Amino acid sequence: MRLLFLGDVMGRAGRDAVAERLPGLIARHGFDFVVVNGENASHGKGLIESHFQALRDAGADIVTLGDHAFDQREALSYIEREPTLIRPINYAPGTPGRGAMLAEGRNGHRVLVVNALGRVFMPPIDDPFRAVEAAIAACPLGEQADAIIVDFHTEATSEIQAMGHFLDGRASLVVGTHTHIPTADHRILKGGTAFQADAGMCGDFDSIIGTDTEEPLNRFLTGIPNGRFSPAEGEATLCGVMVETDPRTGLAVKVMPLRLGGVLAQAEPGF
Ligand SMILES: [Fe+2]
Ligand SMILES: [Fe+2]
Repeated sequence: MRLLFLGDVMGRAGRDAVAERLPGLIARHGFDFVVVNGENASHGKGLIESHFQALRDAGADIVTLGDHAFDQREALSYIEREPTLIRPINYAPGTPGRGAMLAEGRNGHRVLVVNALGRVFMPPIDDPFRAVEAAIAACPLGEQADAIIVDFHTEATSEIQAMGHFLDGRASLVVGTHTHIPTADHRILKGGTAFQADAGMCGDFDSIIGTDTEEPLNRFLTGIPNGRFSPAEGEATLCGVMVETDPRTGLAVKVMPLRLGGVLAQAEPGF
């Protein structure tokens, strides 16, 4: 199977890049399944329903979220009727929506996607390791799931690496989101799980993690808020990870990073 994961879509620039580039990517590389993290797609804060639909229309099979999941409060209601939108699994019991979804890919493959929030340099939340473990135990790779993708949304690369090793051999891909900066450590772990500590964002990198530089820079210099953060609106770089799996085991046989367009652009790799 061929899987594509795209990191945090940031504002209009990120949404436009996904709409313009994702359909062609799917056609050129024959991806069977696409996951997109949409937690910042609506002006950097959360995801309104029309922007969720636009990500789906561009080719996302599942849209994941993160700490900004419910910044747009309408997500608290429409997530209940949109099974292809998932929020972190380790929110308190009773939180609207679901944290894992078994979905069908283009060729009938069953793909389990799990989203979780980390706890290092992040607000307090339930244990992500046990929560992800329970979701995977209920739907094991090579049995109920042909592929398993875990989007672990957190700040510390150590915590993401811990999740990668924890799930090695039990997931097709463990990938980090949230920092918005793509890491250069993509690889296949010993047990066969593809890994990258952060996928990077789909947004304008001529910015401070996707935000216009002026106000964040002001706050670093003075500590005094002087306005709102607004997403940078130059051309976005589409950042993600491409994985090919062995259809018999669901484990990874190839992993490659992707950076298309904008100031971080690299040539589109053959995949
Ligand atoms: Fe983000
Ligand atoms: Fe985040």
